[in-house]
Amino acid sequence: MNLMPPIRPNDPACEAWNRMLMDEYAEKGFYHSIPLPDGRVLEGILPLDALRERLNEFPIAPDLSGKRVLDIGAWDGFFAFEMERRGADVVAIDNVEVENFHVARQLLNSKAQHHVQDVYDLSSARNGRFDIVLFMGVLYHLKHPLLALERVCEVTRELAIVESFVTNEAPAGEAPVLQFYETNELLGQIDNWCGPNIQCLLAMCRTAGFARAELIRVLRQRALVACYRHWLAGPAEPAFDPPLLLDCTDSSNYGVNVRRKSDQYLAAFFKSREKSFTLDTLFPEVGGCGIRPVSVHYTGGDGWQANFLLPPGLDAGWHDVRLRTAHSRYSNTVRIAVDVAAHADSLKITGACDATSWRPGEIAAGEDACVSLWVAGLPVNADRANVRVTLGGQRWKVQDVAPDKGDQQPRQINARAPKSFPKGRHELVVALGDVQSEPLAMRVV
Ligand SMILES: C[S@@+](CC[C@H](N)C(=O)[O-])C[C@H]1O[C@@H](n2cnc3c(N)ncnc32)[C@H](O)[C@@H]1O
Repeated sequence: MNLMPPIRPNDPACEAWNRMLMDEYAEKGFYHSIPLPDGRVLEGILPLDALRERLNEFPIAPDLSGKRVLDIGAWDGFFAFEMERRGADVVAIDNVEVENFHVARQLLNSKAQHHVQDVYDLSSARNGRFDIVLFMGVLYHLKHPLLALERVCEVTRELAIVESFVTNEAPAGEAPVLQFYETNELLGQIDNWCGPNIQCLLAMCRTAGFARAELIRVLRQRALVACYRHWLAGPAEPAFDPPLLLDCTDSSNYGVNVRRKSDQYLAAFFKSREKSFTLDTLFPEVGGCGIRPVSVHYTGGDGWQANFLLPPGLDAGWHDVRLRTAHSRYSNTVRIAVDVAAHADSLKITGACDATSWRPGEIAAGEDACVSLWVAGLPVNADRANVRVTLGGQRWKVQDVAPDKGDQQPRQINARAPKSFPKGRHELVVALGDVQSEPLAMRVV
């Protein structure tokens, strides 16, 4: 191969180098070189040494027996076949049909599956999950790099290898920046859409949902990044007690129910004796997946709040949430309901009173008017966002729903009056979905 000049947009030297590469490709017919069992090599423009040098930088074990590996944008398939040679069960995808892959597959007597599939269409429901995902040499070809990384994260169980062209050589000192190439600015090609700098690439990997994105090396302007779904083990001799995790909720409505959509953020409330936290000294975990906080702030006393993404790829159901600090073991767990339908067979108000005076059947009128009611029949995941309380047909704002204690006892709900709620006799009703209680008469006095 010809010596590569620094890759910059709108640089004739880069375009000339790329044209030479394309001529060589046209002559050889293969991009990857692929070793065959009889010692021959299908010679591509990327020599075996260079391919192995790239791959060997990554923390991928020589024995992958029992592991499931996905190669995204596999092209001729060198990496997919190498993973299979190491014992993995391999799926390769590419958004175009690549005849060379099938030629090599036959010559290697390979069982690697190959699908024509776009990276944007990956999902755990459709593809399952993979212990290791290779996402090499594809990101800068995409118009929606962060969306693609979210899909990659969703199908990754342990480790994703992300390799991309980057616009700088060292990670020091710059803010995260993504160059966008509207036409053929980069190497004269119309399928090069973006160029992150190293900081941006790492930030996008974390934002997509990986707990850790570790830069391994920058090799000829290609950043090699190992992205992990788990945190490292905590300190062997912790200096502090674990935090006390009080609650974890949807960060926008503070309910226990969350949805698997791309921008579902959680808020965790905890107590700790530690005096300061940064985004790098707090380690939340949801359903066993680590996730980096996007904010941690002090709420007074020894209270803290941390916000973080719902890790992509969790199954529907209840999931444990916990967190540790850089100086502690893991906290207790609390649970969140991920895409769990909330359904009640019937609802019954067993009592209601003014939330301050506790006078039954009455609510003191005014700006702070607030009712406490006790309701039987609520599902475990009834919360402030899915329970509706109305008085005289007007919606009152549900402040909180007491957690289910598993004892079938009625649960307390507190709800606040809308502005200028009129005095008089009104009917109190509680509802969830299309089930509602019998009304209970209340007096606003
Ligand atoms: C530069 S090659 C990289 C090949 C190989 N992964 C490597 O690192 O040597 C880019 C590959 O990504 C594929 N690709 C481009 N856009 C894609 C997309 N949206 N979804 C899946 N594959 C894509 C291309 O067809 C091509 O095979």
